[in-house]
Amino acid sequence: MNIMRQPNYLRLGVNVDHVATVRNARGDRHPDPVRAALLAAEAGADGITAHLREDRRHISDADIERLVAELKVPLNLEMAATAEMLEIALRHKPHAVCLVPEKRQERTTEGGLDVAGEHNSLVPYVRGLTVAGIRVSVFIEAETRQLDAAKSLGAPVVELHTGAYCEAIPGPERERHLARLQFAAAHAAKIGLECHAGHGLGYETVGPVAAIPTLAELNIGHFLVGEAIFSGFVTAIFRMRAAMDAARVAARVGA
Ligand code: PXP
Repeated sequence: MNIMRQPNYLRLGVNVDHVATVRNARGDRHPDPVRAALLAAEAGADGITAHLREDRRHISDADIERLVAELKVPLNLEMAATAEMLEIALRHKPHAVCLVPEKRQERTTEGGLDVAGEHNSLVPYVRGLTVAGIRVSVFIEAETRQLDAAKSLGAPVVELHTGAYCEAIPGPERERHLARLQFAAAHAAKIGLECHAGHGLGYETVGPVAAIPTLAELNIGHFLVGEAIFSGFVTAIFRMRAAMDAARVAARVGA
């Protein structure tokens, strides 16, 4: 698609993991996450995100293979920094890889990757993926030390974990989390990192995050797949896109 974008256009990456969750509940082929990804791209998603977990609880190896073959928009593969996942990424060469922490018992990705603490063990992953031409991001908490560690690791992109902000009670607690995200996004720009954000975002929480001017991309999945039950996937993506654009415009006008 060759559409002229505003200079500070905020990309929307649609995560299709939970289409696969529903499919896997019956172990069959429906609903197909690849079909959902193609539909999301038609509806205006700038990219597709999929997390291949060690336990394959949602996205499968075959899904990744088909996404790489069929998508016309960039694929962002979320994965843990393990030898198995590195081999898969190097074989399929998605546009981007987002390194995430992974624990078998967790329901979803809890917290960011401790890039500061695991710096040396992450070096070969960032290097190997980068040499293969894959853009690497690291999923981190909105903390200066994690951003600085990502920079020294050579990852060009960070994704800030918005889970705590989304889960916080609206009011001062949520505002505190928002301020941390704002500060971290500004710091990322200062040290030359492209900054993304995601996890738990919905219509109610997306606006203040989308208004952060130095963010380049949001990755959103669970809420959109849930909303698809009520309004359809395309309508949910349109509404999310509209909420993001409105927040960006309002932030520019108010600046
Ligand atoms: N970004 C990252 C790095 C994630 O791990 C996830 C969850 O898989 C998301 C974004 C999307 O989160 P959600 O499904 O809650 O919108």
